[in-house]
Amino acid sequence: MSQISGFSKLTKLQKIDWLTTHYLSDYPKAKTIIKQYWNTDEALQKLHDEFTENTISNYYLPLGVAPNFNIDDKLYAIPMAIEESSVIAAASKAAKFWLDKGGFNTKILGTTKVGHVHFNYYGDSKQLEEFFKNIKTQFFAATTSITRNMEKRGGGIKDIQLIDKTGDLENYYQLYCTFETVDAMGANFINSCLEQFGQTLEAEARADKALAAEGTFPEVIMCILSNYVPECLVRAEVSCPVAELGETKAEAEQFVKKFSRAIKIAEIEPYRAVTHNKGIMNGIDAVVLATGNDFRAVEAGVHAYAARKGHYSSLTHVRVENGIFRFWIEVPLALGTIGGLTSLHPLVKLSMAMLNHPSAEELMRIAAVAGLAQNFAAVNSLVTTGIQKGHMKMHLMNILNQFEANETERTKAIEYFKTNTVTHSEVIHLLEKMRS
Ligand code: MEV
Repeated sequence: MSQISGFSKLTKLQKIDWLTTHYLSDYPKAKTIIKQYWNTDEALQKLHDEFTENTISNYYLPLGVAPNFNIDDKLYAIPMAIEESSVIAAASKAAKFWLDKGGFNTKILGTTKVGHVHFNYYGDSKQLEEFFKNIKTQFFAATTSITRNMEKRGGGIKDIQLIDKTGDLENYYQLYCTFETVDAMGANFINSCLEQFGQTLEAEARADKALAAEGTFPEVIMCILSNYVPECLVRAEVSCPVAELGETKAEAEQFVKKFSRAIKIAEIEPYRAVTHNKGIMNGIDAVVLATGNDFRAVEAGVHAYAARKGHYSSLTHVRVENGIFRFWIEVPLALGTIGGLTSLHPLVKLSMAMLNHPSAEELMRIAAVAGLAQNFAAVNSLVTTGIQKGHMKMHLMNILNQFEANETERTKAIEYFKTNTVTHSEVIHLLEKMRS
């Protein structure tokens, strides 16, 4: 193992040489594999190389499509980038199931994003409040060049408040700032505004006579958006008469009883809620990735929201009233359909085109629906057949690929597992038998 300085300054080939010499010397295929994933179109490869730093190759994820989603009376084929087998199949199955039952209905509950200037202040808080009141307009004035374009698109800074957090942490205050970023995810816009607010705060403080008399000034610690966006919220729902959820009345009632119980368990039991919400994120992340959005930001914000009441809980809920089954999700999603990767990555552009160039609000609705559909499919399987049956059938392909099965072996294995249970060891056993 070896240390290097100036790695980023090496060419791509030099980086690969260094890496294969020092870290992959016992992996003879390394260079071939790295290069196998390069795109032959040099311009396209360059584009990908420049998305990030120290790029050596491309990392593929499958881009699949889940068709037949009726969302607010509009039909969608949803692009999903995900490696996990069963997820797209499950989403497609749920979409088809709800297609003739009114589909998915959604509502945007808010689009407000949040950022903070976190700072210390050691003087009298009343004095600080007075100072803040006097200079509040300066924050808006100092950011006009940043906000001009955003305002033209209907967005901008919504409000700036001074928050006294000294009860939680000595001398800690914040500017709690809210933003509307319309179709942009808005991270750059928000962070640029916040950094300017921080500078304005310190500059105005130095010029303030009352603060000077106190001899203490706000000291900015950091300026950064928050990925916790409980007011950038979307709701998606499906509903139908209970009777439509089974072949017979008894079957439908039994299904609804078990399904509702499963959701209630996820509401009160964090161990279950985490897995339950993970299933939801299978759907949401796949759409977020396909559309070039920041899935880490979405994940962090969603899980914080799931824990907002003091314990981690389900993002989906169910109610049965007057013979009607209602199942819904409420989820914070700060997404963008302009800027960032959306205008750069060819597959992201394709995904956006597939969705007919949605606004950010429309993409919030679509992603929430993908999460709800995924959860419906997962819980449906869990309370009926169990998930392994379907899952392992899909997983069979991965195992066959892992052991480099040829066409004949594949055909025979698929045939064999039509009537036998797929397990990892059973697949290996079968391959060994065919190969001996
Ligand atoms: C697997 O990726 C997701 C599930 O575990 C979700 C769930 O249990 O609800 C099937």
